[in-house]
Amino acid sequence: MQRRSFLKGAGAVTVVVVGSGVWRAYDQGVFSVGEGPAYEPWKDWRKNSNAGTLALVRAAILAASPHNAQPWLFKVMNSSIELYIDTKRNVGALDPYLREEHIGMGCALENLMLAAAANGYAPTVTLVPAKLAPIPAEPKPELVAHVDLVAGNREESELYDAIPRRHTNRSTYSPQKPIPPQFVDTLSGLASDEPDVKIFLFTAEADRKKIVEISSAANTEIYSDPEVDRGSQRWIRIHWSSVQKFRDGLTIDAFGMPPIATAVSKMMPLWMLKWAASRGAMGGYSNLMLSAPLIGIIAVHDRYDREYCLRAGRIWQRAHLLATARGLAGRPCNEAVEMIDHEKALGKQARRAGLLGDVIADAAWQPTFVFYMGYPTLTARASPRRSIESVVL
Ligand SMILES: Cc1cc2nc3c(=O)[nH]c(=O)nc-3n(C[C@H](O)[C@H](O)[C@H](O)COP(=O)(O)O)c2cc1C
Repeated sequence: MQRRSFLKGAGAVTVVVVGSGVWRAYDQGVFSVGEGPAYEPWKDWRKNSNAGTLALVRAAILAASPHNAQPWLFKVMNSSIELYIDTKRNVGALDPYLREEHIGMGCALENLMLAAAANGYAPTVTLVPAKLAPIPAEPKPELVAHVDLVAGNREESELYDAIPRRHTNRSTYSPQKPIPPQFVDTLSGLASDEPDVKIFLFTAEADRKKIVEISSAANTEIYSDPEVDRGSQRWIRIHWSSVQKFRDGLTIDAFGMPPIATAVSKMMPLWMLKWAASRGAMGGYSNLMLSAPLIGIIAVHDRYDREYCLRAGRIWQRAHLLATARGLAGRPCNEAVEMIDHEKALGKQARRAGLLGDVIADAAWQPTFVFYMGYPTLTARASPRRSIESVVL
């Protein structure tokens, strides 16, 4: 082959390879992080200040939820809002009693309450009591809380202002940067108006190592169950088009990786991404957890009581907003409690329940939510949200 025609051929191949790479990057949203309809709710949540009670729902949907399943529905009236859990939006065997989905409902309720005060309402909440049960065969929406709204003082708080900046941060944290003791004090007092919820905080390395060991072992074991993996996979959104279509679930942008690694991961085929994730998970999870100087456990008197779940969710949302307001980051790490649900659902001997119980060393309290906090090495990215129209009944 002559040199010139070789160069021509090589040039054409390069154009095709680079072109298809650029096209794939474009198609996978590499150049559009945080953009598009799936991310609009983060930007326009305060736009329509005359939206009346609907403004409260705009804040509520920015709350945390397990696997970003957003299991909420709202019936909006002039002087009240009803919150329904949409039980079909579940993570399957990972949350067999919808305990975490109810905690997510509590997170939404907390945002809603903060927005009520900021919008000049005095809200009163009534929780609908129930004992949690296995996921119903024919899931349908269930009323979990009713919020009455009368005119009150307009009270914007640092927690309310932090709502659009709160994102789950899965990056490594800075282990050398200690958390100010004043923050730890404020955090530990955060549940003082909720006598049925208690926050246990651990900063000593020995305590944190114990919780990390329990969580890491639980993480490996629980995801080895194909049923759990199936329930979880339903909410993994790999393709940018499905992020924008479904506007829910876990996205590559929210994995906590640096920008270049995020871009490369978005362009990988699924099999390669799964392989890379499994390599990264080896030892990686323990190190991630240990990089945070604080681990917390939210506990209640009965983890299968709906009201307690909702209250615990309110406290997690509040804690995460407080951290955000003060420049810290947070991430839930719930595998140890999920293992307790798992053993119960499979009728296995409850080997796990005692492990976290030993850590908090107070038999009156049952751990229901585990998290870590610290100063992050990377800024967390927003996760998608469904439109307001799709969550209002
Ligand atoms: C009850 C509950 C359990 C959660 N468990 C975990 C967890 O174990 N690991 C994790 O990385 N994120 C966990 N999350 C965080 C959610 O994945 C996150 O809230 C959701 O993807 C939305 O993202 P955002 O919090 O950044 O808005 C949990 C959230 C809730 C409410």
